[in-house]
Amino acid sequence: MTPVDDNALDSLFRQARTPQRWTDQPVPQNLLQDLYDLVKLGPTSGNCQPARFVFLTTDDAKQRLRPALSAGNIEKAMTAPVVVIVAHDPLFFEQLGQLNPEPALRDWFAADVGLSEETALRNGTLAGGFLILAARALGLDALPMSGFDQMAVENTFLSTWNWRANFLVCLGHADPTDMPPRAARLTFEEACQVL
Ligand SMILES: Cc1cc2nc3c(=O)[nH]c(=O)nc-3n(C[C@H](O)[C@H](O)[C@H](O)COP(=O)(O)O)c2cc1C
Repeated sequence: MTPVDDNALDSLFRQARTPQRWTDQPVPQNLLQDLYDLVKLGPTSGNCQPARFVFLTTDDAKQRLRPALSAGNIEKAMTAPVVVIVAHDPLFFEQLGQLNPEPALRDWFAADVGLSEETALRNGTLAGGFLILAARALGLDALPMSGFDQMAVENTFLSTWNWRANFLVCLGHADPTDMPPRAARLTFEEACQVL
């Protein structure tokens, strides 16, 4: 693989921050398609692809989210052009027939709820991470949020498909006003072991 250039590393990691507030610049609908078309290419175990995404783009949809949000997240989410519910389908294995040539895989997951739930959560969370980086690669800023009532979000938005809510990602263009300095990160020595 060819390494990406320094500008790309800045956009994806070094200069990218989690926004506290947003500009008025909208996020066009076609960018959501472009975003998913990148996210779906990220790896998942056995190509199981359990992640599901619900894009809240209208004021009406975002107002339905409001009662589920922690107090500190209301303003940040309500002013974001788009809020994505990063979810997963606990019955993801029903689609494995079209995603993986191994016919026994569906039955392994269907027979073991612990394994299928762990697999859905692990790979769904990964896809949420891919979403954050893909959004940055497309010139958007992303604010992930776990401060919300999971059951309320599932009841309000996900019950049609029985999907489970994992976390939210607000998308838009950051207003950098009053942005605090970046908090410290653990050093290589603190966080890593090389064996
Ligand atoms: C899984 C997850 C959940 C988060 N939940 C919240 C949240 O509920 N509210 C909030 O304001 N920020 C939330 N954040 C944002 C983090 O605090 C922020 O990304 C982190 O401090 C790094 O900030 P930086 O990108 O500016 O360095 C969350 C981030 C992640 C990854």
